[in-house]
Order: sequence, then C-alpha cells, then structure tokens
Amino acid sequence: MTEMSWDFLPHACRLNHLQVMLLFLVAVILLQTDNSLCDLPFYNGFYYNHVMNDKGNGNEEIHFNGVKLVVETPGDPIFTHRGANVTLSCHYHYDPQLVKSRKIRIKWSKLREDSTKDKDVLVAAGLNHRSFGDFNGRAHLQQDSPGDVSLVIHDLRLHDRGKYRCEVIDGLEDESGIVDLELQGVVFPYQPHRGRYMLNFHEAKRTCEEQDAVIASFEQLFKSWEEGLDWCNAGWLADGTVQYPITLSREPCGGRGMAPGIRSYGERHKSLHHFDVFCFSSYLKGEVYYLSHPQKFTLEEAKQACQDDKAEIAKVGQLYSAWQLHRLDRCDAGWLADGSVRYSIVSPRPKCGPPEPGVRSFGFPKRGKFGAYCYKMN
Ligand SMILES: *[C@@H]1O[C@H](CO)[C@@H](O)[C@H](O)[C@H]1NC(C)=O
Repeated sequence: MTEMSWDFLPHACRLNHLQVMLLFLVAVILLQTDNSLCDLPFYNGFYYNHVMNDKGNGNEEIHFNGVKLVVETPGDPIFTHRGANVTLSCHYHYDPQLVKSRKIRIKWSKLREDSTKDKDVLVAAGLNHRSFGDFNGRAHLQQDSPGDVSLVIHDLRLHDRGKYRCEVIDGLEDESGIVDLELQGVVFPYQPHRGRYMLNFHEAKRTCEEQDAVIASFEQLFKSWEEGLDWCNAGWLADGTVQYPITLSREPCGGRGMAPGIRSYGERHKSLHHFDVFCFSSYLKGEVYYLSHPQKFTLEEAKQACQDDKAEIAKVGQLYSAWQLHRLDRCDAGWLADGSVRYSIVSPRPKCGPPEPGVRSFGFPKRGKFGAYCYKMN
C-alpha cells in the first residue's frame, strides 16, 4: 500500500496522519451521537424535553426524553338512554410515573358528523371549569381519583349521542382519546302529510325534531335493520346520505336477487333532493296513553281533550318510543299531533293489523273520528 499524499491541501492545512485519524474519530463519534437519537423508543405519544416545560412544575422529573403522557378511554361504545346520567370515562397518567403532579388542562369536545370543527363541551384548568352551549349546567368532570378526568353528563338528550374527544394538555403538547356514546332507542321512517319524498335534508332534520326525535344515524338504522326493520322508501340520515333497510329482498326494493341489507343512494344534495327521513327516539320521561271518549274526536277535539286531561297530544316519536321501549299495546286508532292516526301493537292478534308487532298507521285522514293518544310528563 502506498502512502497517501495530502498535497492537494494548501500548505497551512497540511495534516499529518495522526491528525487525520483524530479527525476521523471525531467524525465517527459525532455521527454515532446523531444516530443515537434514532434509537429512542417510539411512542404513540410525545416526548418531553426541558425546552417545553415551564419552571417549577415537576420539571426535574421530565428533563429527559421518553416520558410520555398516556390518555385512556374505553374502546367500546357506551350505551344508555335519554334522560339518563352518564359518565364518559377518561384517565391519564405519565409513563414512567412521575412523583410530582403537573398542571394540565382538560378539554372535552364533541365530534361533528357533518363538519370538521368539533363542538366544545367543557374545558378545565385546575379547579376552574366551564361548559358550553346546552352542556352548560349539565356537564362536569368526575375527578374521583388522580388522573380521572371523566366527563359526567346529566339528563341526556337525543342529540348528545356521538363521539366525544377527551384531550389532556400539558404545556404545548397534548394527547387525546375518543369515547363513543350511543343511545338505546327506536328508529322509525317518517313521511309528512304532503306525501312521499317531499323533504330535503334540512326539512328532514326539522321534521324529526317536530316528532320529539332526531334524524337517525347510519349506526342506528343499521342496528334497527339487524332487529328486523324493513322499509321500502328511501330516507335521509344524519350524515347526509339517503338509504333504506331491507330484510326481505323483493323486486321494487332493490331487486329480488340482491341480498338483504341497507340499500344506499349515497350522499344527496341537501337542498335540491327530496326523500323521506329516518328518525330516532329514545326512552320517554313521561307516558303515552290512549284517551277514549264515547263519541270519539276530530283532530282539534283530540288536542283539546288531551289538554283537558293535563297532557298534550302525543307525537309520532313518542308513540314509537311507547311501542318499542315502554311496550304500549293498544288496538285502538288514535290521533297524533301531526294529524296522523295510528296505534301500537306489541302482541299481534286478529283484527289488529299484520302478524308482526309494530306501529300501524291510517295515514292522515281528512275526516272521521278517532280516539286520541296523549303524552303526559311524569
Ligand atoms: C341524575 O343526577 C341527578 C343529580 O345527581 C339526580 O337528581 C337524578 O336523579 C339523576 N338521574 C337519573 C336518571 O339517575
């Protein structure tokens, strides 16, 4: 091997072999130091370092890389019902564990199905917390044990259903988990008195609300289909799609050859396209009952009769809830608030409609006298 020549370097820079070796060693050490950053274990969290932590907040413990914040939420949806109090579980800890507690902030928000912007539910820092919108006065943090930042919501409403984000914020960094809150209830198709396929998306939403219900989610429709819902008219769902559930394949409902399932028209124009709607309702706080009268009522008389009985005429969503969740079984046709005439059968029998349980409808009679279904708050 011939000796290496360093003649290309200017005279002042000429290095002897020893100096070259030294430089080489330094370079290798530098490179290794650099590489060691890549050897840090990967966490699906974030690393602390001394830069981001404010002083006097347990920082001595977090001056090294690799402490992570862990936020835990349940993997399965929580099922409850309207009117219930619910705890959405969320806990955090540091791994490895820290001796001193750190100041953190908590933010609970609700994900929106039809937009990217979350809805604020509650924020908390230290002893202060604040809830927003219609969660005001209904939501608070549980804080039963260290690291417990579970959200308690009282008196659940139909539109409380959905996914909630629990966010723990430590300094500049944050970690979060999702809790899925589902309500038990009943899905029903709705067609207004004007007839079939008259509602755009916005009207569909409003129509369900007028029946003491909300527009159903796909998950709710799917669950109802699993439980046997079969309906051959397409209806809006909360995500802006139009679908219908078929348990018994037949020609006019997507074809005989198609397997049972949810048939989908996909996403439709929210203002220009018109369909029916699927509504969702959950347990009632009050009671639906049949009010009879020897002469029967017109619609206006039925409304008055319920009021005279310290109640109000029942809405369609209330009758469906009474049927499916409170087992109202009454073989008498009665007026409802929207001008339809229906009755609710749990145990099918002769002269009470088809052999399956269900809410029977006579549509929206223009004349004729019937009983009345009233709704009374408990
Ligand atoms: C919910 O909590 C409130 C306040 O603690 C209580 O008064 C109410 O009875 C609870 N409701 C139910 C359904 O448990």
